[in-house]
Amino acid sequence: MSTNVAWHSHPVDQSIRAEQKLQAPLVIWFTGLSASGKSTIAGALEQILVSQNYHTYLLDGDNVRHGLCRDLGFSDADRKENIRRVGEVAKLAVDAGLIVLAAFISPFRSDRRCVRNILPEGQFIEVFVDAPLDICKQRDPKGLYQLAERGQIKQFTGIDSPYEIPETAEVRLDASTSSVTESVNQLLEYLFQIGALKSGYDPISLSA
Ligand code: ADX
Repeated sequence: MSTNVAWHSHPVDQSIRAEQKLQAPLVIWFTGLSASGKSTIAGALEQILVSQNYHTYLLDGDNVRHGLCRDLGFSDADRKENIRRVGEVAKLAVDAGLIVLAAFISPFRSDRRCVRNILPEGQFIEVFVDAPLDICKQRDPKGLYQLAERGQIKQFTGIDSPYEIPETAEVRLDASTSSVTESVNQLLEYLFQIGALKSGYDPISLSA
């Protein structure tokens, strides 16, 4: 616990950093089951944003667990701490003026709400990457569902650890029937509607 520390305001703040980058910083938070498509969709959206000269950063569950959160497992308490740390990093990155894409299972509503609450109003966009458990199990790109069903991985989300469906998500992507391209276009449309994209956007060609 840090005591005897005061907040120091510096002359360069979020608005100056954002203005320099000609963009509105925010966090686009992807939540959903393992193998629902969070990382893939976040990566594809980031590619489009970067190609249109936005300044971004992608925080990804699997990657962050190699460093910042390498000491954490998958108990409820460790997931809570994982999301708390990532939320704080996202907050710093937004303060730096970036558009942050965060892809984490983040199974608990209360943890997602905590991240929402530490960010300035309107700078947290919750995206529910909605794919039914059966589809995620069929995809199983890392073979983890199979291991979990055999009891070889404990506390696996959807098997023996819960996932709380978002009730307040700004965007729901139907990740079982929509392609990655359709999901990215849906997100671009949403970001355009809320004024987060400067001068419109070019939908990605569906044949791309
Ligand atoms: S979270 O629940 O704390 O938000 P996070 O998104 O960081 O999870 O990490 C999820 C990734 O860790 C999954 O995509 C999967 O590859 C891997 N993983 C390993 N063990 C588990 C588990 N028990 N439950 C869920 N994902 C797991």
